[in-house]
Amino acid sequence: MRDVNNIIGIENLSLNLLGPNGKQVSILHNVNLNVQAGESVSIVGPSGSGKTSLMMLISGVEKATSGQIEIAGQDITHYNEDQLAAFRGENIGVVFQNFHLIPTMTAFENVSVSLELAGHTDTEQKALDSLKAVGLEKRMHHYPEQLSGGEQQRVAIARAFATHPKILLADEPTGNLDSETGKLIVELLFSLTVQYGTTLVLITHDEKLANKTSRKLVMKDGVLNSDA
Ligand SMILES: Nc1ncnc2c1ncn2[C@@H]1O[C@H](COP(=O)(O)OP(=O)(O)OP(=O)(O)O)[C@@H](O)[C@H]1O
Ligand SMILES: [Mg+2]
Repeated sequence: MRDVNNIIGIENLSLNLLGPNGKQVSILHNVNLNVQAGESVSIVGPSGSGKTSLMMLISGVEKATSGQIEIAGQDITHYNEDQLAAFRGENIGVVFQNFHLIPTMTAFENVSVSLELAGHTDTEQKALDSLKAVGLEKRMHHYPEQLSGGEQQRVAIARAFATHPKILLADEPTGNLDSETGKLIVELLFSLTVQYGTTLVLITHDEKLANKTSRKLVMKDGVLNSDA
């Protein structure tokens, strides 16, 4: 955590949530994670082990029950909602398995709205540049339903990178794509992270994909271990 090169420093992070019977359920247990700037790390592990939950803590969407979380030099552990929103806009890009595009907005609008929310100026030019970077400028006025799955994911990647985030969190980004399209999406993700010097945290069930990152971690029953 005190290593200045760490862009993610997580210490003894635990997350309990309320289960259906009103009892606390332990979701994450004393997680420690240090990631250096520019590193790429994958997290594998069985369904329900807590991978997405950890991602929600790193992106400041969910609050930890205990422990400390420091991202890009900011201790976000006790940030309020406004502080977290500003922190996210500045530092975090996210790509999901289900693309999560806004269906009533075109590709271009999906990207520019996220830039606006993050407080950027010159959003139209930045949105266009980002759509160009994923090769989708010809589809920019299409709505998500007028795009293929791979194209929708490329829009989601354009949206995630448009703000030039320090950290990109990708949660099963190829989970809903056929293997050929998945491969192209992975190549795009990796080339953009290298191009922008982005730190990548990649959640995946795909061992081959996990092996492409510089470090692989395993989540099991809410406990994170290195892949020793
Ligand atoms: N709001 C909630 N309240 C209580 N328990 C929850 C809540 N959300 C998730 N959980 C539980 O937390 C555990 C971890 O879920 P999480 O989504 O982090 O798993 P995951 O590793 O991402 O799984 P998958 O590979 O299937 O996506 C699961 O057992 C789930 O049932
Ligand atoms: Mg998940």
